[in-house]
Amino acid sequence: MSLEVVILAAGAGKRMRSGLPKVLHEIGGCSLLTHVVRTAETLSPKRIHVVYGHGGDIVRERLSALDVHWVEQRERLGTGHAVQQALPHLEGGDRILVLYGDVPLLTTETLTHLLKRGDSDNIAILTAVLDEPHGYGRILRDDAASVTAIVEHRDATPEQLEVKEINSGIMVLPSGRLAGWLNALGNDNDQQEYYLTDVVEMAVADGVQVTPVVVDESIEVMGVNDRHQLATLERYYQYREACRLMREGVTLRDPARIDVRGDVTIGEDCEIDVDVVLEGNVRIGRGCSIGPFCHIKNAVIADNVVIRSHTVIEDAEEIGQGAIIGPYARIRPGTRLAPEVHVGNFVEIKKSDIGRGSKVNHLSYIGDTDMGAKVNVGAGTITCNYDGANKFRTTIGNDVFIGSDTQLVAPVKVGDGATIGAGSTITRDAPEGELTLSRVPQKTRPGWQRPKKKS
Ligand code: UD1
Ligand code: MG
Repeated sequence: MSLEVVILAAGAGKRMRSGLPKVLHEIGGCSLLTHVVRTAETLSPKRIHVVYGHGGDIVRERLSALDVHWVEQRERLGTGHAVQQALPHLEGGDRILVLYGDVPLLTTETLTHLLKRGDSDNIAILTAVLDEPHGYGRILRDDAASVTAIVEHRDATPEQLEVKEINSGIMVLPSGRLAGWLNALGNDNDQQEYYLTDVVEMAVADGVQVTPVVVDESIEVMGVNDRHQLATLERYYQYREACRLMREGVTLRDPARIDVRGDVTIGEDCEIDVDVVLEGNVRIGRGCSIGPFCHIKNAVIADNVVIRSHTVIEDAEEIGQGAIIGPYARIRPGTRLAPEVHVGNFVEIKKSDIGRGSKVNHLSYIGDTDMGAKVNVGAGTITCNYDGANKFRTTIGNDVFIGSDTQLVAPVKVGDGATIGAGSTITRDAPEGELTLSRVPQKTRPGWQRPKKKS
């Protein structure tokens, strides 16, 4: 049976009090609408239609990478009207699944279950039983527990308001009959809107079966209307990601204190300490350890890497096996660290290749540098890569020893096996195998007196 998905996303989202349309707000580093589209994609529908509206051009622009068909709803006249806008664009699938762009945590499992209950003749509705159903449409059932209608909170009688089973808004409808029902919708209700929910009563009158499917975890059907709900769903999403990582063999010191904001994979037997943020595309191998308070964004990290506390890594193309980084290290874009490299405290590395087993352990800046293997860089070494207008590269061979407090003024080359004396300012190439240093001769003034304050 073929399926098309219609995602309703034309709401204004006033309660967010934001210049940004609601569906562009993010959970786990990904827009609400993107979450919904990604879940919809897992159902392999013929097409995904997104109904956008107020301020929607920016939604189309920002999410232009999504493989969806955009349908504009010029006037926001209700959920029924919104689905109606998509009708002319449907390709004639057997069923239509209606999703909301602001309900981001629905799972493929729940939707698959719902789809199993709806065929090309009947309707299946995802419902939830809530202790506090305030504001939601209520599911009305007859004595035989069959669904007869949905009534909106604001249109409900006091008796109907007692009902705890609510409409999530997510439903599967038979394509063949939908147009007829939608065309017959009226807007004689408190909001003077064309309600998709009124289709249910019409369907029942036509002898069509309406099957309610109660969701296991009601948070799945929760929508984002304000920043408080956004934060609630963010925390739940993070809890889910933490559970996934633990299932996959990762030890989390505190599952409530890790944030995953993107596509993150972590190998077995990794250990992650508290307050770690993983963002964008992060691939971490097996047996790694990440200390507390680290921020890692877009990085490929091999096996058995140790990242100590307060380390920041951004756009690292490769962190080799067995590398040790931090505490308080900063790895910036375009950096590759070969296996067994050590980068210590207060070291910043940018756009550089560091060869196997090399060590930059203390208080250094290495930028635009190609460094060989087994190099030892002393404390306080700086590659002076920028003249205020241009950037230049520093090349360091294998097995080089650079004394502390050295400045390497690029462009400059240090040959294999060279030694640079501490405190040097290197402005010309240093030959291989030799000691090079630049140092002002030391003086002592015998008998010199320190000035004294007048009493
Ligand atoms: C709707 C349901 C209600 C259900 C609740 C669940 C109706 C009439 N009511 O109510 O039974 O309990 O959701 O959250 O369907 N939208 C459009 N165009 C419109 C109107 C809405 O695209 O003209 C979109 C919104 O962006 C949103 C979704 O449809 O994603 C639901 O709209 P909303 O106004 O939030 O409906 P509720 O009043 O919450
Ligand atoms: Mg709503």
